[in-house]
Amino acid sequence: MGNGIAHVAALSGFKVILYDLEQQFLDRAIATISKNMDREVAKNRINAAGKSAALGRIMPSVVQGALSEADFMIEAVVENAEVKARVFEAMDRIARPDVILASNTSSISITKIASNTKRPGKVIGMHFMNPVPVMTLVEIVRGLATSDETLQTTKQLAESLKKTPVEVNDYPGFVSNRVLMPMINEAVYCVMEGVGTPEAVDSIMKLGMNHPIGPLALADLIGLDVCLDIMEVLQNGLGNSKYMPCPLLRKMVDAGHLGRKSGRGFYTY
Ligand SMILES: NC(=O)c1ccc[n+]([C@@H]2O[C@H](COP(=O)([O-])OP(=O)(O)OC[C@H]3O[C@@H](n4cnc5c(N)ncnc54)[C@H](O)[C@@H]3O)[C@@H](O)[C@H]2O)c1
Repeated sequence: MGNGIAHVAALSGFKVILYDLEQQFLDRAIATISKNMDREVAKNRINAAGKSAALGRIMPSVVQGALSEADFMIEAVVENAEVKARVFEAMDRIARPDVILASNTSSISITKIASNTKRPGKVIGMHFMNPVPVMTLVEIVRGLATSDETLQTTKQLAESLKKTPVEVNDYPGFVSNRVLMPMINEAVYCVMEGVGTPEAVDSIMKLGMNHPIGPLALADLIGLDVCLDIMEVLQNGLGNSKYMPCPLLRKMVDAGHLGRKSGRGFYTY
């Protein structure tokens, strides 16, 4: 997700500081961005000069202090509340006081994330969809303390990235994953209980419900580990057994079958 956000920001003319823990992750991100931009060149959406100018605006760094120059920060680390808490403490230390700190979290409380900073009014959810260069929605999540000014600036930024911001309030899973993840989880139950094969489940949802992609192919795209993390946030945050992660989903994550990113999930890649 981080490389997708860097991709659209750079193509929209912004300078991007792309921070990750290891150089190899940054190298992989730049390679992915380059490959994805090539697709846009092939479709005549951008030209080769536009691509190289955009790539030139991305500065990868493993040095956290490099982020001190940022005018706006967007976090897209793993979907783990503890990790995000530590990352937001660091972002709060590094960023100028006027800088907005946004999280791309799929489900974790923005209000809670904000409590790890001394600027809760300047913390907001900016939930991009996967793949970022293709999907136009940004779910803008307002925490309890998020100020009106932060909300307006973040919506304007989303629009300048040629995205459509939709504002929601801060409850587990927001709207997107409150609705999507139980459907994916139920699709996994259908496979576990032998109601249908992954191909059958996905064909039924595509042909019968007009979904562009089946729920299990989508789970593979999102990452089965991310899906499990989100179900746990729904289960813990809403306390209803209907959000219990399907045991087959947990088993596949334990086996390292994470979907596209590991080469194997409900399908093989
Ligand atoms: N996968 C999706 O479809 C999707 C969609 C929308 C939002 N999200 C959200 O985006 C975030 C990232 O998801 P992803 O699928 O890209 O995960 P990912 O595991 O593919 O990438 C996470 C990246 O964060 C880096 N990272 C981990 N800890 C870090 C730290 N302390 N400091 C800096 N970098 C660190 C990792 O090295 C890795 O490059 C999550 O919050 C997820 O819920 C994911």
